[in-house]
Amino acid sequence: TDQSLIRNFCIIAHIDHGKSTVADRILQLSGIVPEREMRDRFLDRMDIEQERGITIKSQAVRVPWTFDGTEYTLGMIDTPGHVDFTYEVSRALAACEGAVLLVDATQGIEAQTLSNLYMAIDHDLTIIPVLNKIDLPSAEPDKHAEEIAGLIGCDPSDVLRVSGKTGEGVAELLDRIVTDIPAPSGDPKAPARALIFDSVYDSYRGIVTYIRMVDGELRSREKLHMMGIGMTHDPIEIGVISPEMMPTKALGAGEVGYVITGAKDVSQSKVGDTITSAKDPATEPLPGYRDPQPMVYAGLFPIDNAQFPELREALDKLKLNDAALIYEPETSVALGFGFRCGFLGLLHMEIVSERLSREFGLDLISTAPNVPYEVTSEDGTVHRVTNPSEFPEGKIKRIVEPMVAADIITPKEFIGAVMELCQDHRGIMGTMEYLSPERVEMHYRIPLAEIVFDFFDQLKSRTKGYASLDYHEDGEQAADLVKVDILIQGEKVDAFSAIVHRDKAYSYGVMMTKKLRELIPRQQFEIPIQAAIGSRIIARENIRALRKDVLAKCYGGDITRKRKLLEKQKAGKKRMKMLGHVEVPQEAFVAALATN
Ligand code: GTP
Repeated sequence: TDQSLIRNFCIIAHIDHGKSTVADRILQLSGIVPEREMRDRFLDRMDIEQERGITIKSQAVRVPWTFDGTEYTLGMIDTPGHVDFTYEVSRALAACEGAVLLVDATQGIEAQTLSNLYMAIDHDLTIIPVLNKIDLPSAEPDKHAEEIAGLIGCDPSDVLRVSGKTGEGVAELLDRIVTDIPAPSGDPKAPARALIFDSVYDSYRGIVTYIRMVDGELRSREKLHMMGIGMTHDPIEIGVISPEMMPTKALGAGEVGYVITGAKDVSQSKVGDTITSAKDPATEPLPGYRDPQPMVYAGLFPIDNAQFPELREALDKLKLNDAALIYEPETSVALGFGFRCGFLGLLHMEIVSERLSREFGLDLISTAPNVPYEVTSEDGTVHRVTNPSEFPEGKIKRIVEPMVAADIITPKEFIGAVMELCQDHRGIMGTMEYLSPERVEMHYRIPLAEIVFDFFDQLKSRTKGYASLDYHEDGEQAADLVKVDILIQGEKVDAFSAIVHRDKAYSYGVMMTKKLRELIPRQQFEIPIQAAIGSRIIARENIRALRKDVLAKCYGGDITRKRKLLEKQKAGKKRMKMLGHVEVPQEAFVAALATN
């Protein structure tokens, strides 16, 4: 394809402003999806995306569009809107020359509208501002066009108006993409260089690598070389997605497509790497991506420990499709073998667990998530703590916790409610700006640990759903944190240890001890359940011993015989774990950790 006829763009927006719906209309108008095959949010290809109605993965697709009698090739990438998936968006932006900034005409600019816009500007992309949902009676396009024009410095009349529902204005949007977004400007004659911006594991075909060609050409019959990992492959197939995979003979400068090499070993493809031709290799790789920093960590353990090798394999495969996921093996006395995983937020964590269970059939239990800390012991040693078990024993000199800069957009009547919420979460107020006479953007510096858990839900409920939130890393600060351990009959249960703010230590201790008292069945002896900071007990519950006669009935006397019986029972039904002398059913761990 002649580069001057290519336009690569992504659609960016705040969550729910209608990216996937507008993408549907584009697919229909261009004619690549026949009417009878059309379904809502066509590019949200995963079941979880369809069920939850949110985009998790960016999807690239090629659509033809004729403007002024000439056929152009548009490379479109639909991106996710939720803050946990910003890394997906940033990788998509690096594969494009332009961005369609979509804003819901009933809502106006929201927090991720701004963060996505700033990211697109950082990538030097041409921005096409668009108001969506103009079919709705509550749409206020004139007002919000002013708002957007003020933000990006254009004329309000430059802001397009479309409806993803009725399709109104979408053809004009495609024309604007052709006229406004520059064609790619790589060197078609130079040695080939392609950026890997995503990949996925396909059980039949192996690794599918998604690429954006920058310079030169890759041909389906010539050996490829991955510059970063230093491997050479014979491509089995090269092609474009429109809307499904379509093999082509070659991909030239400016094109977006995919490569299949038949490799099944997941270490043979890395997002951010540069592909070149083995025969005529480029000397310099493309800049690639910065690895994202996990915001929260949690342990993931197979409920059936025999599934540990499968979990490893599943994580390796999932990582191909989720470059933000990190993991390393960990062992827990209570839960056995598993992985300590790093996530970009709780939604990310939830999606990873769900994908592991759906796509790989794994039954998992996760420990309470925590943010990473830096703990300095009295002797000056600095520990990076991503797991409560790494918290050093003995006297602590200093603990530092990660901070975020939070931007909250809210109608002005909720300013007081937002301030109160941020104060309750140890936030420090920064500046505040009016986006319009009715709406303000408030800036706070807040500990990450206060934001990732229930903050967003509370923000929504205290502002009747009107406020939106975006945040990014903003250094660190010293904090008064302690590690709370949970002891069952004097034995520390690692899976329940937590690092919490001193003010919350007591309530965590009380909650966990109460919960465990209810979940652990009575046994022949009394079982104390305690919460402790170091050697100081802060909460205690007792599980009373069974009386003799009751014991006779329920156990039939011999505990070893009972255990033999139990072992015979089907796996997963009633697994017991011995903690010292105490038998704890596996379900007790699951239940105690689930409702955290
Ligand atoms: P994420 O990818 O999860 O960030 O969402 P999104 O921006 O892709 O939004 P999506 O396309 O899923 O649309 C969100 C909701 O708005 C859905 O219920 C759509 O049916 C609805 N919607 C989208 N566009 C329009 C529109 O033009 N008019 C009306 N009335 N509803 C729309």
